[in-house]
Amino acid sequence: MIQLLCPTHWTEYELLDCGDFEKLERFGNVVLRRPEPQAVWKKVYSEDVWKKKTQIFFKGRSATAGDWIKQNKALPDRWNIAYKNNDIEFKLRLGLTSFKHVGVFPEQAVNWDYSSACIKKFQDPQPKVLNLFAYTGAASMAAKSAGADTTHVDSIKQVVNWANENQELSQLNDIRWVVEDALKFVKRELKRGKKYHGIILDPPAFGHGPNGEKWKLEDHIQEMMQDVVQLLNPEEHFLILNTYSLGFSSVIVENLIRTSFPQVENLETGELFLQASSGVKLPLGVFGKFAKFKS
Ligand SMILES: C[S@@+](CC[C@H](N)C(=O)[O-])C[C@H]1O[C@@H](n2cnc3c(N)ncnc32)[C@H](O)[C@@H]1O
Repeated sequence: MIQLLCPTHWTEYELLDCGDFEKLERFGNVVLRRPEPQAVWKKVYSEDVWKKKTQIFFKGRSATAGDWIKQNKALPDRWNIAYKNNDIEFKLRLGLTSFKHVGVFPEQAVNWDYSSACIKKFQDPQPKVLNLFAYTGAASMAAKSAGADTTHVDSIKQVVNWANENQELSQLNDIRWVVEDALKFVKRELKRGKKYHGIILDPPAFGHGPNGEKWKLEDHIQEMMQDVVQLLNPEEHFLILNTYSLGFSSVIVENLIRTSFPQVENLETGELFLQASSGVKLPLGVFGKFAKFKS
């Protein structure tokens, strides 16, 4: 059955409203207004309410870049938020980037909870987790905080440095940082005979390796899936595949997983969304995940 999942307990993050191609969100004490291409419906709160609540808004300069405009000078460019659930706890440094991102994708909290629950359930006392396309590392912090020996792979040095800041801020240590093309790294690990208990993949629609290697979701995901499942520890494991390419459905993700890994057990697929306090739901990607445990 296809599931619809959203984080429900994260008090430091709140989607207030969305619509008319924008979203209004609170990260800690800071309320941001920024573009959201999927919000094709009418916003629920009035423009007056949006104006009153907004502290910082994003003004586009081109299709991909823009500037953040603050309502007063005391508002920060950088600030921290914390995440806590069951046995995991970490902090993230947020920042206003010119690409309208702030350093975290809050809907992913559902996946952090899944990976940490699997890590706690494994019999191996220090399971190995591989986070591919790992960005500023929220999923790496969750895995490390749950006790996994964690490897973080991303092609951009600056975002890996940002992830390293998050590790320090969270008082965690020993995450293995890799700045490399994700597909190349997976192929190298296969050659070395490496195995991982957990693999998290959150590939973008388009991307580049550090040496210009091209990543295009529909062209490369099949090869990636076929390689990555061979890295799984055969006795106990989990895998999370997340995509947010417009047009990719959870049935596509199910087919990708089943055809790459016919022996899959406990497969769950569905859509991730954020519940706005105004009442609407904002869809933010599809997932497929599965786990196997020793009995
Ligand atoms: C949207 S982010 C993933 C979000 C992340 N999983 C999270 O929840 O915080 C996509 C990341 O993939 C990285 N990337 C793009 N192409 C890549 C490639 N070929 N190899 C490795 N990383 C790549 C980008 O630098 C970016 O940080």
